[in-house]
Amino acid sequence: MEPKYVEKAVIEASYESIGRIRSRLGEAAPRYYIETYGCQMNEHDSETLAGMLEKMGFTRAEDKPNADLIIFNTCCIRDNAERRTFGNVGFIKELKKENPALILGVCGCMMQQSDAAKRMMARFPFVDLVFGTNELAVFPQLLERVMEGERVLEIRDTEGEIPEGLPIKRNEGFSTFVNIMYGCNNFCSYCIVPYVRGRERSRRAEDIVEEVRRAVQEEGFTEVTLLGQNVNSYNGNGVSFPELLRMVNKVEGLKRLRFMTSHPKDLSHELVMAMAECDKVCEHIHLPVQSGSNRILKLMNRRYTREHYLELVRDLRENVPGIEITTDIIVGFPTETDEDLEDTLSLVREAGFSAAYSFAYSVRQGTVAARMEGQIPEEVKKARLARLNSVIMESAVGQNDKYLGTEGEILIEGRDTRGEPMMFGKLPSLKMVYVKGGEELIGQYRRVRINGIRFNSLAGEIID
Ligand code: SAH
Ligand code: SF4
Ligand code: F3S
Repeated sequence: MEPKYVEKAVIEASYESIGRIRSRLGEAAPRYYIETYGCQMNEHDSETLAGMLEKMGFTRAEDKPNADLIIFNTCCIRDNAERRTFGNVGFIKELKKENPALILGVCGCMMQQSDAAKRMMARFPFVDLVFGTNELAVFPQLLERVMEGERVLEIRDTEGEIPEGLPIKRNEGFSTFVNIMYGCNNFCSYCIVPYVRGRERSRRAEDIVEEVRRAVQEEGFTEVTLLGQNVNSYNGNGVSFPELLRMVNKVEGLKRLRFMTSHPKDLSHELVMAMAECDKVCEHIHLPVQSGSNRILKLMNRRYTREHYLELVRDLRENVPGIEITTDIIVGFPTETDEDLEDTLSLVREAGFSAAYSFAYSVRQGTVAARMEGQIPEEVKKARLARLNSVIMESAVGQNDKYLGTEGEILIEGRDTRGEPMMFGKLPSLKMVYVKGGEELIGQYRRVRINGIRFNSLAGEIID
C-alpha cells in the first residue's frame, strides 16, 4: 500500500490555533516538560512534540513542578515499562493540587494498546489529554481543544500517513536521529510494536536526505542515526536501504552515519558492501538475534536460523574491517528449555558481540506468544537472565584486548566525574574511550591511541 504523505502546507495549517492558545495562557511563555519512555523512536517523537510546542510559543521547563504542560510519551514493550508509567502519572495528582491550571497529556505506544487509553482516562481523572502514535501532526489542535476545557481522548486508526515538515526540537549534542520509516510488518510473535505502531511505511528518500542536510548544515550535528524498526526493509519509492545509505553518505559536513535497527532476515550482502564502501557509515551494526536456538527462533517468527545469523556475522567481519556487532536477546520465551538457553549462550560466545541487551520475556496481550502453552515461570526467567548476562560480560570484555596499541578517531561527548575526571567519546565502532583533557574537547573529533582497558571500555591518549 502506498503511504499517504501529509505535506508541510497541510501541517502548517494545523498551527492556526497557536495564537488562540497563547493568548489564553497570558503574557509569560508557558513551559512544557516531556518525559519519554522506550526506544529512539519515542525519543524522536518527543523531539517533534517539543518542536511543535516551541513553535506555539512554549519554552522548556527544567522539571515537572515548573511546567504548565506535562506530557508522558509512553512505551509498552515490556510490562515494567507500563508499570512505571502508571506510577509516574499517578504522582502528577499532587502537582495538580498545587497548580490546577497544569495540563497533563499522555501519548505514545502504550496508549495505542486495546483499552490502555480508556484505562488511563478512567483511573486518573486529572489526565487532560490522551493520544496515540498517529496523532503527532494534529497535536496542536488536540491541545487547543484541551484549552477550551474539553477532556480529549484521540486514537485514530489511520496508520498509513507520513507527516512531513513537522518542526523538530533536537536534543542537544552532536549526534541526532532521523526517522526513515514508521511501523513494522514483522509480527515477531512476542512483540507488541506492530500492533501499536502500525504497518511499515517508508519516507521518501529525498525528504530524508534533506532532513539530514538541514540537521548537519543548519543545526551543526555531525553524527546522524537513521531510525526504523527494520531499516533493512526500507523502500521509499523504489529506493532500497543500501541506496539510501549511499545518498545520505554524500551529505557535506556529515562525519558519521549510523542506523538502527537491522533485522537479520533482511540484511543483504548489498548492505554489507554499502557499509564497507561508504566512508561515513560507522563500523557498527545493531543486529538483534533474540535467541540462538532454531526451535525458539521459529516460534518467535524471526524467519532466520542460527546458522544464517552466524553467516551474516562472518560476512560483516570479512568486509567491514573492525566492525563491532551488538545485539538484543530474550530469555524465557514460552517452551524455552535449558538446552535452548545453551544454544543462545554458545551463539553469544561464537558471535563475539561487543555488547548485548538482554531481556526476560514479558507477555504482551494480543500477541501470538501470549497464547502459547509452556510459559516459563518468572524465577526461571530471572535465573536464565543472570546466566546470560555473565556470559555476555565475559565475552564482551574478552573482545577488548585487540584494541590495545591501535589508533582511531573518537567524537568526544562529555566528562565523567566518577573517580578521576576523564573525558569520554566513542569510536565509530561505538566502543567508549576515556582520555585525559578538558571540557573544550567536547564535540571534537580527535585521534587517539588505545593504551588500556577500563571496565568494558577503553582508555587512550589523544595523539593529534
Ligand atoms: N525492531 C527491533 C526491536 C524493537 S524492540 C528489532 O526487531 O530488532 C527492542 C527489543 O526489545 C527487541 O529486540 C527484543 O529483544 C525486546 N523485546 C521486544 N518484545 C519483548 C517482549 N515481549 N519481552 C521481552 N523483550 C522484548
Ligand atoms: Fe518487534 Fe520484530 Fe518488529 Fe522488531 S521486527 S519491532 S521485534 S515485530
Ligand atoms: Fe519503542 Fe516502546 Fe514503542 S520500544 S516503538 S516506544 S513500544
